[in-house]
Amino acid sequence: MKSKEIKKDIYCVGAIDWDRRLFDSLIPLPDGTSYNSYLVKGSQKTALIDTVDPTMQEVLFRNLDQLGIKSIDYVVFNHAEPDHSGSITQVLAKYPEAKAVCTPKCQGMLMDRFMVPEEKFKAVEDKETISLGGRTLEFIYAPWVHWPETMLTYLREEKILFPCDFFGSHLATTDMYVIDEGQVYEAAKRYYAEIMMPFRTYIQKNLEKIKDHAIDIISPSHGPMYNKPKLILEAYHSWAYDEPGNIVVLPYISMHGSTRKMVAYLVEALSRRGVTVKQFDLAVTDIGKLAIALVDAATIVIGTPTVLTGPHPNVAYAAVLANALKPKAKFASVIGSYGWGGRAIEQIVAMIPNLKVEILEPVLCKGFPKEADFKALDNLAASIAQKHKEAGLA
Ligand code: FEO
Repeated sequence: MKSKEIKKDIYCVGAIDWDRRLFDSLIPLPDGTSYNSYLVKGSQKTALIDTVDPTMQEVLFRNLDQLGIKSIDYVVFNHAEPDHSGSITQVLAKYPEAKAVCTPKCQGMLMDRFMVPEEKFKAVEDKETISLGGRTLEFIYAPWVHWPETMLTYLREEKILFPCDFFGSHLATTDMYVIDEGQVYEAAKRYYAEIMMPFRTYIQKNLEKIKDHAIDIISPSHGPMYNKPKLILEAYHSWAYDEPGNIVVLPYISMHGSTRKMVAYLVEALSRRGVTVKQFDLAVTDIGKLAIALVDAATIVIGTPTVLTGPHPNVAYAAVLANALKPKAKFASVIGSYGWGGRAIEQIVAMIPNLKVEILEPVLCKGFPKEADFKALDNLAASIAQKHKEAGLA
């Protein structure tokens, strides 16, 4: 990506990573991503806000060279994760007069991870400002979006917020600003689900912290910028605060068809009762799609066959993931099958202690489901529909 001018002497200088398909060796990136870096020139000083993944530092340097940047006074590290800070050694070597500006916690992490000497840093306090000459950077501590050291940078005069991961989306696009709102909403919701959802209460606090800042543009570190910030601010507000919907998420695995039959029956029984169901075959699903569905679900039903004495490993993986993401579901249950015994249900329930859910009566069948099992599934569907109604979600 070539540098693009946002306003006079404010540029995007980051890189688009069209081909990356996995983040943190965990998160699928169906649409690639970008590592956004921004250059802000004042009348006296120049600041670079966030850098890029080290695999793309040549793109950053090319963009800065093309703008004729010979010296940088401040490199702001809003966040220590290497996709934004991994180029720190090379950037500080290219611009040896630059100070790395970050929170004290971020400084410690960057020193630990990249062995940057202490004298290269200028640690800032919450709400501290730095003047670039006619332009003022204000630093806003924003822990847990996405690590504990995170801060946001606000350019006061232009009302631009540089929130790093907060409000980001893994989306490779040449569009500087959001054009396709539906596409970006989906990518941002996926990003929220996978990265931000475990920190929902911190997100609420951080939204509160910026609510009195006038914001014309949000320039995140991944995906396009928002020149109509209402779209993403309202979305975050809804994801973080709203009650879940009248929705069941049903991730499952079936090896020989028994659990699949139960899933199909339960989906139909719930649907008849007006409950929306989103089912995911964990043998083939994109776990990002599952994460998105978890944002709004009131109930999670996990479907598993018994492998040896426990749940299918793919189901265990999904349960551990859901437990880590801490969605706002209120109810959960397990359905599944077994051949000769085992403790699949107990083991699944033990894997989700973070979920503040009421466990509804599980249904486990021996072999292929029979009349009594279908009746139990009907009872489970009725119980879920009733619980949603009592909770005011239906
Ligand atoms: Fe984009 Fe938490 O790093």
